[in-house]
Amino acid sequence: MDTQSAKNRIQELSKELNDHNYRYYIEDKPIISDYEFDILLKELEKLEEEFPHLAEANSPTKRVGGEVTKKFETVKHKYPMLSLSNSYSKEELIEFDERVQKLAGKKVSYCCELKYDGVAIGISYKNGHLERAVTRGDGTQGDDITTNVRTIRSIPLSLRGDYPSEFEIRGEIFYPLSVFRKLNEDREELGEDRLANPRNAASGTLKMQDSAVVSSRKLDCYLYYVLGESLPFDGHYENLEAAASWGFKAPSKRNNLITTCNSIDEIIAFVNYWEKERSNLDFEIDGIVIKVNDYDLQEELGYTAKSPRWAIAYKFKAEQVETKLNKISYQVGRTGAITPVANLEPVLLAGTTVKRASLHNADQIAKLDIRENDIVQVEKGGEIIPKVVGVNLELRPADSKPTAYIQNCPECETKLIRIEGEAQHYCPNTWGCPPQIKGKMAHFISRKAMNIDGLGEETIEQLFEAGLVKNAADLYHLNENELLALDRMAEKSVQNLLEGVEKSKEVPFARVLFAVGIRYVGETVSKKLVKYFKTIEAIKHASFEELIAVDEIGDKIAESIIQFFEEPKNVQLIDNLQASGLQMESTEEDTLIKNIFEGKSFVVSGVFENYSRDDLKKTIEAFGGKNVGSISAKTDYLIAGDKMGPAKKEKAEKLNIAILSEDEFDTLINK
Ligand code: IVH
Repeated sequence: MDTQSAKNRIQELSKELNDHNYRYYIEDKPIISDYEFDILLKELEKLEEEFPHLAEANSPTKRVGGEVTKKFETVKHKYPMLSLSNSYSKEELIEFDERVQKLAGKKVSYCCELKYDGVAIGISYKNGHLERAVTRGDGTQGDDITTNVRTIRSIPLSLRGDYPSEFEIRGEIFYPLSVFRKLNEDREELGEDRLANPRNAASGTLKMQDSAVVSSRKLDCYLYYVLGESLPFDGHYENLEAAASWGFKAPSKRNNLITTCNSIDEIIAFVNYWEKERSNLDFEIDGIVIKVNDYDLQEELGYTAKSPRWAIAYKFKAEQVETKLNKISYQVGRTGAITPVANLEPVLLAGTTVKRASLHNADQIAKLDIRENDIVQVEKGGEIIPKVVGVNLELRPADSKPTAYIQNCPECETKLIRIEGEAQHYCPNTWGCPPQIKGKMAHFISRKAMNIDGLGEETIEQLFEAGLVKNAADLYHLNENELLALDRMAEKSVQNLLEGVEKSKEVPFARVLFAVGIRYVGETVSKKLVKYFKTIEAIKHASFEELIAVDEIGDKIAESIIQFFEEPKNVQLIDNLQASGLQMESTEEDTLIKNIFEGKSFVVSGVFENYSRDDLKKTIEAFGGKNVGSISAKTDYLIAGDKMGPAKKEKAEKLNIAILSEDEFDTLINK
């Protein structure tokens, strides 16, 4: 394909993909399947690979991320990012309205909207393209997190309709609660601590260096404020409506996420509605924001040092109830982690009946001095599971005694241990504690691991109870007759199960490694280990130093791997699985990917003819190399483009680092 045709096709594909993205993420009305979408995206990716200089900064391919930011640049806000003054009662809202009316000398029109509990972002657009996304920071300057924000599907990269040539739009980035819960479930599976709340989690995710990880995290964003010199309307609400027509996910009257009001009664009705209904949203809000709609009147009302006088936030009280804590019980997870649970006198909280609440760990119980038979305060946060946040000491029974945290496993009686620096207690009886055994097998067969058809958690339970399996390796010795003898096991299900087990022998090594369930070794880490060490033998014998030499593997993971292989029963399990025919080496196909830059670190500097800097970095990574920000004695190559600063060259020469031109780099990878 010649350059001109490539350019045309790239434009065509970008437009088409942007449209589909809008239909999917904003309108919620897709007209093609995910598969068809992927085919188009792949075509665009391929063209951009072939013609890197034609790849746009806002190409739909940027949604998947890949760029790594070592340090986010600090940039000054064009318009300061102010906060809102808070109010906690309806009386304060009435006073606000009276103040505004008095100053205005007339009836005032307001816009009421949700107060999203996320991370504030200011995104500027120029000529219909996303230019920059900056965090709030101290209100005057924030961090440039554009690369990460580009991966959020509901934020348009290119606009549609009749938008102003330059403007900024502000909003809140957040984790949908469903996504947040899933994230925590995944973390728990890996034996990692759960994230405390969706807002902090969103904030942490947005500051991650690898945009590909951010892309996988499914963040979302609502926009609530348009700023600029040439906006189409002179009212806040009207401009937000216009922003929706440019492709933004702005709140709409249709789903009552926003409304315009002409009286305090209407404002209070909106507040009351959401105070009740907020528990049905898939994201967290912590109040309602009331804004004077008309820009001229906003100007007239002006600002205090920190916040506008034309707006106020009404903050909801945390949804909390008091109830009796009948009993503290303890759960044992797959990794042996113990979670204390409060069994409560059933109580209505935010629309659901609550019977159980999390007590997190021993420290939390001690800190709040939580005891059985106490009247406790229970709060609903972003988690499905409510938590106990306090004790009503006045109502504590006279004969109450401090909680003695359990010393032994509630399931198998083994003495619990506590790893230094960790909040959780653990049951160390990995091989004999029933919930741990069953949990490990459930993980082993799960979709992302061995994905065994015909076998679910219930069947695992049944097989375990019947004494047919004690660990994952036993699954490969099941026979038809013993299965048929079980309850609810028809011939067809037995057939499916056995076929599923047989087929799992083809599952690639990286997934087998993930499936055996080494603590902290998730999908990504498994892939990295397999890519680096190739065989189970090599991983088994790797030293601490060798392990931490692998990209993204730190002390904690390395120690966990070593500990795993120090346990003879683990080694036995692996041996048994290997003897049953499971993949324990990366196959030829896996190793065919050229890892010519394995373990080598690169600095890319200057401007290139056939690559954008990002593409060059991606290419380096695709061949197993690692990009670093600055030259040090550890750097292996400096790829020098046009206009590279002389200081860099000098430093590289001094440290004896190989300097490659773009052509030399090409020759290397094409060898
Ligand atoms: S307007 C000058 N509207 O709350 C007015 N802010 O406490 C600027 N927030 O920094 C803000 N929902 O992060 C506005 N519908 C909404 C909001 C909202 C959440 C956040 C925002 C702001 C903070 C102020």
